[in-house]
Amino acid sequence: MPESLGVAVIGAGMAGRAHAAAYRTAPTVYDSTLPPIRLVSIGDVNAEFGSLAARRFGYERNDTSWQAIAEADDIDVVSVVVANHLHREIVEGLLAAGKHVLCEKPLSDSLDDAIAMADAARSASSIARIGFTYRRSPGIAYIRDLVQSGVLGRVLHFSGRYWTDYAADAHIPISWRFKGAPGSGALADVGSHLGYIAEFIGGDIREVSGGRFATVISQRPKPLGAVIGHEHGAVSDELDTVENDDYAAFSFDFADGGAGAIEVSRVAAGHANSLFLEVFCENGSATFDFRNPTEIGLMLNEGPTAQRGFRRVLLGPEHPYIRGGLAMDATTVGFGQNEGFVYQARAFLEEVAGLPAESSLPRCATFDEGVHNMRLLGAVAESASRRGEAVDVTTEVFA
Ligand SMILES: NC(=O)c1ccc[n+]([C@@H]2O[C@H](COP(=O)([O-])OP(=O)(O)OC[C@H]3O[C@@H](n4cnc5c(N)ncnc54)[C@H](O)[C@@H]3O)[C@@H](O)[C@H]2O)c1
Repeated sequence: MPESLGVAVIGAGMAGRAHAAAYRTAPTVYDSTLPPIRLVSIGDVNAEFGSLAARRFGYERNDTSWQAIAEADDIDVVSVVVANHLHREIVEGLLAAGKHVLCEKPLSDSLDDAIAMADAARSASSIARIGFTYRRSPGIAYIRDLVQSGVLGRVLHFSGRYWTDYAADAHIPISWRFKGAPGSGALADVGSHLGYIAEFIGGDIREVSGGRFATVISQRPKPLGAVIGHEHGAVSDELDTVENDDYAAFSFDFADGGAGAIEVSRVAAGHANSLFLEVFCENGSATFDFRNPTEIGLMLNEGPTAQRGFRRVLLGPEHPYIRGGLAMDATTVGFGQNEGFVYQARAFLEEVAGLPAESSLPRCATFDEGVHNMRLLGAVAESASRRGEAVDVTTEVFA
């Protein structure tokens, strides 16, 4: 095991701060098996954002280029948390410098770049992983366990929607999120999470159909200053064109015969972050609503039919991640998205430190899984471009 691990986070925006905080907390959950974690640098081209985040989360310094982090001898582990179109250059540079890399989702903004990144990861001497944070949400992980253990059994029907409203206001300034090819909008931003979760729970998706995109606010004002995350900020009178999807939907077939549909939006006013899913399985059904992440709904086909129905299961120490995963790990103390980043950082550090898989959290997803996720998004875009035609995710060639 290394004597210590030096950590850096590239990107001090909305999710970068979550990574920065997560590395700080990761050694404080579960058993003290990690080597000492040194919080070394926050890298952001915006020096003000970088230095503020470094001070806030207790990192030794900030850097203004990813190259400085790649060259630093005191850094071993780097999270890449910048706009999707920047992932490839930075990740490839870090891997070439021997850093262990945890990249944010989606792996890139194009399938070709994602494939190149997976090739680079395969030939790298260090570890490269992608963070699909929501798989670490205890309710989602538990529903998967119920499916895989046979309690719920095979998924017959998956229904998912991820509704956000960060772009519902037409005065929200243009940013990298609104630029790129069809499918690089709401689909890549939040649909990448939900597509991953559908497969995490129900197994591989074979075919998508009914792909549909809509851009419902076609122009947005340019910001007057730097924009982070979903912030409003001051805007100019000048407008810029929104290039990608505000809304996306598609249907799909699982490889093992089940079916489902996903609908995502960034203009769903009133739904700041509503990830909702229902799975209907051979032996019952389950529901999860991220607005109440500490519980799931469960219905099992057992007992007298007159008494069947959904029950509310409160998540506690008997469920994934919770025992030892919170300072106070009792049922109903509450947890949410920030804990997902902590468990993700912990899993990555455990793998980098060489701790055995049996005594670690489930490993983070590989870049090959990130490519698979990009193929799913690409298939939806292809279906949308062919007015909803069916597209085989595994065999068809699309850009
Ligand atoms: N897992 C999740 O729940 C989750 C949530 C939000 C975002 N994300 C992902 O995280 C990534 C970043 O999203 P965000 O919302 O934090 O973005 P953001 O726009 O809030 O922040 C991006 C930051 O990157 C900085 N930056 C720009 N170019 C840079 C460069 N060349 N080198 C270093 N820094 C640079 C910007 O100054 C900014 O501070 C995206 O891939 C997004 O999909 C994941």
